[in-house]
Amino acid sequence: MLTEQQKSLVQSSWAKVAPISETAAQLFYSKLFELDPAVKPLFKSTDLKEQGEKLMKTLTLAVNSLNNLETLVPIVQQLGKRHKEYGVTPSHYDTVAAALLDTLSKGLGDDFTPDTKAAWVETYTVLSKTMIDAAEY
Ligand code: HEM
Repeated sequence: MLTEQQKSLVQSSWAKVAPISETAAQLFYSKLFELDPAVKPLFKSTDLKEQGEKLMKTLTLAVNSLNNLETLVPIVQQLGKRHKEYGVTPSHYDTVAAALLDTLSKGLGDDFTPDTKAAWVETYTVLSKTMIDAAEY
């Protein structure tokens, strides 16, 4: 579980990424496709600019709802079920984790401290576990 300090670190670091969210989304997808070109076909009919906005919006909602998990969990569970239908597998979540951490590192520079990284790892672990569990693979 996330400590109060970790929630604050995730929220304050995300606030620094928000102004560059379009660039961050681009960095994220290029890293994702570099790490695992096999995920590209999942996005074959996807407008990546639009998809990037959806991803950033959902992450913003998640980050803002860290103190309000009872509202967030059902939304993330539904998201996880839809991802199974998109062809996403549990191992894809590890690749997305790596792409997200790389994006945060590039976007935050020196502000991506070890504590901030650990807080993001914990946050992503909670989100991805909730999605994977709900999808019942
Ligand atoms: C915390 C993790 C994730 C978040 C917050 C997230 C967020 C989103 C959102 C908001 C959408 C828009 C459609 C919807 O709401 O159902 C979406 C679609 C999608 N996501 Fe994710 N996602 C995550 C993990 C992943 C992973 C691990 C993959 C695998 C590579 C993935 C691949 C896709 C694909 C293929 C679509 C459908 C694109 C389309 O509609 O054409 N996502 N995701």
